[in-house]
Amino acid sequence: MKTYRKYPNTRLRRLRQSDAIISLLQESRLSKHDLIQPLFIAEQKEKATAIDSLPSVYRFNESGLIREIEELMKLGIYTVALFPSVDSSLKDPLGSFALKEENFLYKALNKISKEFPELITIADVALDPYTDHGHDGLFEDGKVLNDETVEILSSQSLMLADAGATILAPSDMMDGRVGVIRNALESNNFKDTLILSYAAKFCSQFYGPFRDAVGSKANLGNQGKTSYQINPSNIEEALQEVALDINEGADIVMVKPGMPYLDVLSKVKDTFNMPTFAYQVSGEYAMLHAAIQKGWLTQGVMIESLLCFKRAGADAILSYASKFIAEEYLDG
Ligand code: PBG
Repeated sequence: MKTYRKYPNTRLRRLRQSDAIISLLQESRLSKHDLIQPLFIAEQKEKATAIDSLPSVYRFNESGLIREIEELMKLGIYTVALFPSVDSSLKDPLGSFALKEENFLYKALNKISKEFPELITIADVALDPYTDHGHDGLFEDGKVLNDETVEILSSQSLMLADAGATILAPSDMMDGRVGVIRNALESNNFKDTLILSYAAKFCSQFYGPFRDAVGSKANLGNQGKTSYQINPSNIEEALQEVALDINEGADIVMVKPGMPYLDVLSKVKDTFNMPTFAYQVSGEYAMLHAAIQKGWLTQGVMIESLLCFKRAGADAILSYASKFIAEEYLDG
């Protein structure tokens, strides 16, 4: 145990006597390079439509998406995570639209990867935006099927890679999917496609507004995702999930949600020393946003919460507030 000099040899308030000294000694910083903006894309006439439970976040059509990406890049945000919001008439029990070439997501990805070669696109790999039951995989006799789902995720991954996705992000929590996707990429000449695994994804109530945005909430009803997402109480199991995904070929691992799970983030970073992302999920954003709107909290809580992600070990952060923070606060 390190011995510390005692008062008055040590007066920690010397370190806090001016903004300049505080800034000089600051241990963690948040920069635009750390921020990832999640974006919802839909096939619709309007360039942008509002999402009730996610204020200031929109569903974009293709031209709205392109305009939004231009604005983000001007602000210094070069990474976006794309999620499709699919009309309910296109959903079915197998999530078939996920593997259809006419899926608007593939067209949009193709277009933006050509138009913005320096943009990093993260494409979600999961079936929940496409299934009429709202689960991330095939659902039969009250069960989500693992291996059959993984086969579909593997095909979905190849289509996303082919459309130009820089990073594939399996968010479904099926067992073994990272390995199967990695093999499929290797044998189809997509050796440079990165895999960002949602490795420690907890079965959280904080995903509610996202499920509104992609229209899976009503379909899912009271059925939770307890049979595939991690119990919020379990950190050892989360570390095991991360270890497995690294072994299977993940380049980057993610912890999700963020703020209530910073202990997991810190442990994952310390244990594996891998590139590690964290996701400030929809419910965290909605909760802070609502309190700011009511005047109960100030805007600074948003940036404080993301700075704390950095302190806990995040290399980059997915946040619905990324654009707002880059606009209002960050200069570098
Ligand atoms: C599902 C997926 C979810 C999120 C990202 N991908 C929700 C879920 O697991 O139900 C949540 C993101 C958020 O709440 O912001 N494939």
